[in-house]
Amino acid sequence: MKELFNNYVQSLETYIMFQIKQETQRLTPELKAKDRAPISLSMGAPVERPPQFVNDKLVEAMQGDTMHTYTTPKGENYLLQAIAKRMQNRFGVELNPQTEIFSLIGSKEGLANIVRALINATTDKNKQDIILIPDPGYASYKIMVEVSGGMPYSVPLTKENNYMPDLEETVKNLEKDGYSMDRVKALIINYPNNPLGAICTKDYLKKAVEFCKKHNILLISDAAYVDLTFEGAPKAHSVLEIEGAKDVAVEFFSFSKPYSMTGWRIGWVCGNEEAVGVLGKLKSTIDTGIYKPIQKAASEILNSKIGDDYIVEANKRFERKQKIIVDGFKELGWDMDKINPPKATFYLWLPIPKKYKTSKEFTDDVLKTSGIVLVPGNAFGKNGEGWFRMSIVAAEEQMHEVIRRLKEDGFYFE
Ligand SMILES: Cc1ncc(COP(=O)(O)O)c(C=O)c1O
Repeated sequence: MKELFNNYVQSLETYIMFQIKQETQRLTPELKAKDRAPISLSMGAPVERPPQFVNDKLVEAMQGDTMHTYTTPKGENYLLQAIAKRMQNRFGVELNPQTEIFSLIGSKEGLANIVRALINATTDKNKQDIILIPDPGYASYKIMVEVSGGMPYSVPLTKENNYMPDLEETVKNLEKDGYSMDRVKALIINYPNNPLGAICTKDYLKKAVEFCKKHNILLISDAAYVDLTFEGAPKAHSVLEIEGAKDVAVEFFSFSKPYSMTGWRIGWVCGNEEAVGVLGKLKSTIDTGIYKPIQKAASEILNSKIGDDYIVEANKRFERKQKIIVDGFKELGWDMDKINPPKATFYLWLPIPKKYKTSKEFTDDVLKTSGIVLVPGNAFGKNGEGWFRMSIVAAEEQMHEVIRRLKEDGFYFE
């Protein structure tokens, strides 16, 4: 039969999180039968409900006369204004709501589309545009670049470089590997980071801005976890706080993680006017924006005391859950002092026990034996092999249950 679909999608596999979900569903009856009903620690989706306030605002907004109609992809004015106010209050960043902010159907959508807007698709490996991505990093980056006909190039995040890699070193490696910096279109950074929970200094953000200016490339900062830092940890910064950042940077924000609104699908991009404009134009041809009541409710939570208090409480909750897991894994033999758990996000990144050859072998075994759903580290890049990620997002009592099962089923670090 004639090949109908393009070269990029032909090699595509279902996104790792949905593969894991499907496999978990398939195994659920047998897991339940042995008292090991699945506990999901895979997707980064907190189980707690969003603030009641935002739910109420949504219901109220749905009653409005014109709320059911098409919106604009850019976003309603009240949302854009609320975002501008948030960026000002939280980071001291001034933005023009009309030219420097655009709403997104979740930040994943925006990231995928900006990557698509940058790359001139080709299957010729000698010509493909390159996007620099953190490794380990959010699993979607690599696929977004590949499916757009470009080439992802790993920037390794290691303990040795304190998860803030020397970017000029990356250029040297890239050239050593036979690629020219002329092919590079953008650098993606993500702090606090998924899956490591690593944070970066403001000085590092400045270096990233300087690097992108020097090499004339776009800086894409993914700030999905910017509000998820624990008490005592330094607050995370927006890259737009750096002087002149708007010349080269766009930043992506999400309502998903701070307010537990993962299913609502709303976020925003802001920063460099040209990049926001191009992304906006592209989006105007492929989507028609976010349901207005969602925009209305989201705009109300953004600068509210209720919203800010909710984030503080959510971070306390993540920290409490992390402690349960950290204490438990210590008892299971993991050297948690050496691992130094992060003070941001709800992720924990741990090495697999030595007797397993690959991350997947370990996470498959834990799922089949104990019903605990983890993500193999290699899903986050080649530097993730030998590790696994746990999203500490289930209920607190389930965290205890996770440890109880792992002990009972003999998952010790040996
Ligand atoms: C680093 C990072 N960026 C972006 C996203 C996408 O979030 P959303 O599309 O819900 O805004 C995620 C989701 O897990 C993420 O981990």
